[in-house]
Amino acid sequence: MTDSGNQPRLGYPNLGLGVGLRTVHFQHVLERQPDVDWFEIISENFIDSQGRPRHVLDQIAERYPIVMHGVSMSIGSTDPLNIPYLHKLKKLAGEINARWISDHLCWTGVAGVNSHDLLPMPLNEQSLQHVIDRIHIVQDVLERPLVLENPSSYVTFTDSTMDEWEFITRMSEATDCGLLLDVNNVYVSAFNHDLDPEQFIRGLPHERIVQFHLAGHSNYVTHLIDTHDGHVIDPVWRLYALAHELTGGVSTLLEWDAKIPPFEELHAEVLKAKRFMKEHLVPAGADAEPHDPAIETRQSADWVPHPLHHVKPDVE
Ligand SMILES: [Fe+2]
Repeated sequence: MTDSGNQPRLGYPNLGLGVGLRTVHFQHVLERQPDVDWFEIISENFIDSQGRPRHVLDQIAERYPIVMHGVSMSIGSTDPLNIPYLHKLKKLAGEINARWISDHLCWTGVAGVNSHDLLPMPLNEQSLQHVIDRIHIVQDVLERPLVLENPSSYVTFTDSTMDEWEFITRMSEATDCGLLLDVNNVYVSAFNHDLDPEQFIRGLPHERIVQFHLAGHSNYVTHLIDTHDGHVIDPVWRLYALAHELTGGVSTLLEWDAKIPPFEELHAEVLKAKRFMKEHLVPAGADAEPHDPAIETRQSADWVPHPLHHVKPDVE
């Protein structure tokens, strides 16, 4: 749609090391003005809010770059796109000078029913064309390239005919959309579907990746769940180092959405990324076996936190 597809990262800047902005840290950020490079917000927590959350966001946006990350575009659904929602995204992006707008390569519901989850798509020619057509519509409304994230997934489809990285590559080349590479999601999906996470990352069009996500997950031995409730584990850091090497480095964002720690601990976690940018690049044949020190405690937990738990009006 634009010439921006010819530029690395669509011409979007490397913002550095940021964290997801969550309600519990509003006061800290306002009062302490921590030395974090940028914030990502959950779009849905602000597009309909004109109260305190929006007032806080406006103040933070004056001091820090903001990126908007949404969870309800449902780009993969067969339901019509929610055009009023897209206009709200565009309006908020203009008001807070959002550097870009992202969502997930997924569907969240069908026939008007919202599952409140990020559901994976079958990956075939028909679904690819479907998503391409809808991305064009979204970008025409937003008047900017959309950035889409690879989701974590727990099922695959017998109707799928291509690897996820091929689907993502062809999707981005056909639409000039940007990519948000969630390194933890690659690790989780690769574990759950017995794939090679390095092959996944090497198979992507690296010049189109504008952002990374990092997060913790929970290990249930037979499967991993993308819970965003803890530290990033070493194998994910090693994948991050590989992705950093292949892209030359892009904006990096830590997501932490359950059992959220004090801001200092959150910030310290994303700053670990510096260790993996140069000297800690992936050694050949690195062991990618999962090692999660919290495995014993999490295995028996009957409450499973979910990344979407924070997408609700808990903002005051
Ligand atoms: Fe993510």
